Amino acid sequence: MKIIRSSWLPFLLGIVFIIAILNKAMFSSGEKIKTSPDEKPQWHAPDINLLPETADGDTIRYGRELIVNTSKYFGPHGTIASITNGMNCQNCHVEAGTKAFGNSFSAVASTYPKYRERSGIVESIEFRINDCMQRSLNGKPIDSTSKEMKAMVAYLKWLGKDVKHGEKPYGSNAELPFLTRAADPQQGKTIYGIKCMRCHGSNGEGEIDFDSMGYRYPPLWGNNSYNNAAGLYRISRLAAFIKYNMPFDQTQASPQLSDEEAWDVAAFISSQQRPEKKFPEDWPKIESKPPDYPYGPYSDNFSEQQHKYGPFIPIRNAKEKKSAAIK
Ligand code: HEC
Ligand code: HEC
Repeated sequence: MKIIRSSWLPFLLGIVFIIAILNKAMFSSGEKIKTSPDEKPQWHAPDINLLPETADGDTIRYGRELIVNTSKYFGPHGTIASITNGMNCQNCHVEAGTKAFGNSFSAVASTYPKYRERSGIVESIEFRINDCMQRSLNGKPIDSTSKEMKAMVAYLKWLGKDVKHGEKPYGSNAELPFLTRAADPQQGKTIYGIKCMRCHGSNGEGEIDFDSMGYRYPPLWGNNSYNNAAGLYRISRLAAFIKYNMPFDQTQASPQLSDEEAWDVAAFISSQQRPEKKFPEDWPKIESKPPDYPYGPYSDNFSEQQHKYGPFIPIRNAKEKKSAAIK
């Protein structure tokens, strides 16, 4: 009897072990860390078609229209003013800012006014919109009390009306992990030729849509593109946008580019000529410049070249070491 029992012991232990593992797997399935974009709870914009036919509804609709067809109103042949490069807000804020990982506007109403390191002040939504007017649209700011500004702000507030104060829905910003090497514009040029040129053109010039007065395919560099003070000029912003949104005829659930390809093609685009505009008031605290901000002075000893293309990990590590030392 004893002999039988002791020979069962390993069996019994084995079964207990298996039960424990199964149990753990079942328990943790509810809180498993989800990694791919399509698995997480998605934010959905309110339905524009359900807006009432009221004056407020009209204002919101007009705000959306300005974001979708910006060029028609403010482009080189704009009906209100001729103060921008002809791009539409929607060229970068995909589907009027409702698409997760497409520079979505989902966190605007919930987080503004907010302090931003670039300006060193608490920014209003109006201030932030005029930032994109001057940098991304390489244009002039509009009056913050104008009908157009009020309409865009109304649209953004309406979009984020169900997001709790201070919350940032999943997909409100996109990040890619840093590469261990510098991003490579040469490699990026090859990728550009294969995956981007068919729409954005051999000189990154895009293609005008004469019917809508905007671009069918917006320019990626050259005189009609965003300027060097725009968010997309930083290659971390550009690489993440490209990864999740380009080529445009793909879905975000199945990106076509690897992270490396996205970084390299971003490096190529950022190495090309574009409008230059200076904002000497930017980054009042130089130690708050992000690792991939390509203009000095810096609070570290890395070159502008490394701050533009990487490798960024040593820069980030040095920064973390420094701030730990201060604490
Ligand atoms: C060339 C691309 C581009 C265009 C065109 C553009 N933006 Fe942006 N915009 C960006 C990027 C990139 C960011 C995020 C910048 C960052 O994280 O540093 C941004 C940020 C914003 C934000 C803040 C979002 C947040 O959650 O903090 C608002 C609001 C905004 N843009 C409005 C507009 C409006 C309105 C227009 C048109 C008048 C416009 N943008 C045109 C690229 C663009
Ligand atoms: C099928 C055509 C197509 C292809 C291929 C394509 N794009 Fe785009 N791209 C678009 C369109 C259309 C937009 C504007 C989206 C909108 O207005 O809704 C855009 C917008 C952009 C923008 C933001 C606006 C700007 O002009 O800066 C960037 C950056 C960009 N594309 C980069 C790329 C890169 C890099 C590739 C290759 C990996 C690529 N695209 C491939 C059609 C395309």
